[in-house]
Amino acid sequence: MSADGIILVTGGSRGIGAATASLLAEQGSRVVVTDIAPEQPQGADAILWPTPFDVASEPVVVSVIAEIEARHGPITGLVNAAGIFGKMHPVENVRMENWDREINIDLRGTFLVARSVGERMTKRRHGAIVNVASIAGMTSGPIHAYTAAKAGVIQITQTLAAEWGRVGVRVNAVSPGFTRTVALEAGIASGALNADRLARNAAMNRLVEPIEVAQAIAWLLSPLASGVTGINLPVDAGFIAGSTWDAYGGLPEPPAA
Ligand SMILES: NC(=O)c1ccc[n+]([C@@H]2O[C@H](COP(=O)([O-])OP(=O)(O)OC[C@H]3O[C@@H](n4cnc5c(N)ncnc54)[C@H](O)[C@@H]3O)[C@@H](O)[C@H]2O)c1
Repeated sequence: MSADGIILVTGGSRGIGAATASLLAEQGSRVVVTDIAPEQPQGADAILWPTPFDVASEPVVVSVIAEIEARHGPITGLVNAAGIFGKMHPVENVRMENWDREINIDLRGTFLVARSVGERMTKRRHGAIVNVASIAGMTSGPIHAYTAAKAGVIQITQTLAAEWGRVGVRVNAVSPGFTRTVALEAGIASGALNADRLARNAAMNRLVEPIEVAQAIAWLLSPLASGVTGINLPVDAGFIAGSTWDAYGGLPEPPAA
């Protein structure tokens, strides 16, 4: 996929980032994984950047990206998977330190890494970026900063795609639905989320698997998507399609097998 360079995956030690790093490496790419808590992603034949890489820290992002390229070669693909979930609250209970943290990592961090890598790609006139947004950025929910941050990620994806299209850099987003990662399982285990409720508005009546998001990301990075830039691709088991049906009495039950 990228014989001439490396693919950088932020937040690649766990969850969707780890599944993506693993798939890209299996497909033959040289993959470098960074994370705020660096750990070799399970089963992935990827290069782990050993020091903490906080996407919200400008000095870290700028200096480590330069070091990664000096050591491993030009970044031709970027997956911005680092992120944190939003805390669920009624609006009056939103604490501004949580607001700042979610916006800082999920929106500002995604922009910072995309810009720092993208500037290098534009000089070489080659590269593809995939930002991990969320269906939360396309709908509403009691996670005020998170939904705003993810809507912002979808927006900056379009802006950067327009800005860099003429110099051969593609920028796209994926918007996962509720995806079975450790982070989501923790929300279910704590009782904050309910697995059946998360699944039942999805047309396919299930959660998304991390590998399914990884497959969409790998496609968007690959030459198979050479004509695609500026899009936001939901990978949501039909959550957006199905979520209005409750107003009409709910989605149909499947016929008995
Ligand atoms: N799981 C879902 O249901 C779901 C749905 C939609 C979108 N997403 C998005 O997908 C992305 C990955 O989520 P996930 O479910 O795999 O979560 P996860 O917690 O399993 O993985 C996220 C990774 O990002 C890292 N990280 C956190 N803060 C960081 C920082 N400041 N700098 C660098 N790395 C940092 C974590 O250490 C972790 O390894 C996030 O952007 C999340 O918002 C997840």
